[in-house]
Amino acid sequence: MQNFTYKNPTEILFGKGMIAELSSRVPTKTPVLLLYGGGSIMRNGVYAQVQTALKQHRVVEFGGIEANPLLETCLKAVALVKKEKVKFILAVGGGSVLDAAKFIAAAAVFKGRDPWSILETHGANVAAALPVGTVLTLPATGSEANGNSVISRAATQEKLHFTSALVFPAFSVLDPTSTFSLPRKFVRNGIVDAFAHTMEQYLTFPAAAPLQDRLAESVLQTLVEVAPVTLGKPRNYEARASFMWSATLALNTLLGCGVPQDWATHMIGHELTAFYGPDHAETLAIVMPGVWKYKLAAKRAKLEQYGRRVWGVKTAEAAIARTEQFFLDIGMPTRLSAYSIDAAEAAEKVGARFAARGDAFGEHGDIDAAAAAAILRLRA
Ligand code: NZQ
Ligand code: ZN
Repeated sequence: MQNFTYKNPTEILFGKGMIAELSSRVPTKTPVLLLYGGGSIMRNGVYAQVQTALKQHRVVEFGGIEANPLLETCLKAVALVKKEKVKFILAVGGGSVLDAAKFIAAAAVFKGRDPWSILETHGANVAAALPVGTVLTLPATGSEANGNSVISRAATQEKLHFTSALVFPAFSVLDPTSTFSLPRKFVRNGIVDAFAHTMEQYLTFPAAAPLQDRLAESVLQTLVEVAPVTLGKPRNYEARASFMWSATLALNTLLGCGVPQDWATHMIGHELTAFYGPDHAETLAIVMPGVWKYKLAAKRAKLEQYGRRVWGVKTAEAAIARTEQFFLDIGMPTRLSAYSIDAAEAAEKVGARFAARGDAFGEHGDIDAAAAAAILRLRA
């Protein structure tokens, strides 16, 4: 097992009715920014619950955070935060709203000249941030309990992440009933994203970490078990609760303690969203089987373990095929052609970007420009 440090400061408030707890968690003496997306919270009753909980608070609102949040929009919120002297940010929505809140929290007190440099340095230059709390309405990203944020810049078609211990939410409310209104597509996306997060920390090479392996396999098995139930019966509380908690555990940094991590699928996937626009999870379902096929020899031992323990199959090849079938079974395409994306063109564009940045990912640090291009060519 590798050395590691582990600290997760986020308080989780889980279950039906827990939005009411905001009244005691959000500071009352200073202005609070209530940040949200395109309006789903108005239609599903979450906004009304938040308003009731915050009736003693001084609330400033900023709506309109888009999926794959844009720098350009976030900077408007930063201006509002400064103007209104906001001291706390409450994000209410999916991963995009939560990620935007983290960026706004860091950018509002950023001393450098260009806040985009927070993304370019992947958070290395973040020295302070306003505190953030969240009400999560879409289980998927784990943003509710980690220090990651992914922001896009429309002007340059870039999508970059930053990580900072300073932007872990102080608390996150997870009420499964607030997700009942999710369209099927976003539930499917969330299942695949949580599955992929687990895999990025698990599907590498054996590292004498049997507990981490079994924790990861438990999350995978739970997702496989609840996926058809929660897709088929969106208002089944217990299935939705298990899905929601699985998605948090998939990326609250616990699974990655002391083990090698991959993340090549995510990095290639972010470029596909930046260039072509598919949802985050849609890109993962395309890329992940390609990464595994491309790295078959290096990943064979873990693929066999995964296949045996999660699917009851014997070979690495069968484990890959079974995973792809799982995605297809829940309605998630696994090929670039499903989005009319030309594989050769995507390989060239993403490869050129990896080359320009000198990027290389994967547990061996060898998924470079040429490897990323080769992986995409496998996914026509
Ligand atoms: O904007 P509104 O109107 O709220 O609608 C949203 C949005 O259209 C809707 N939605 C959310 N909750 C709902 C709902 N609709 C009905 N009922 C509800 N309860 O869902 C749509 C998608 O929301 P979004 O927040 O974009 O989805 P998701 O949570 O999948 O977040 C995706 C973003 O997170 C980043 C992705 O790259 C992408 O930008 N990620 C963040 C990570 C992190 N912070 O650790 C890790 C991930 O790997 C990922 O990269
Ligand atoms: Zn993801």
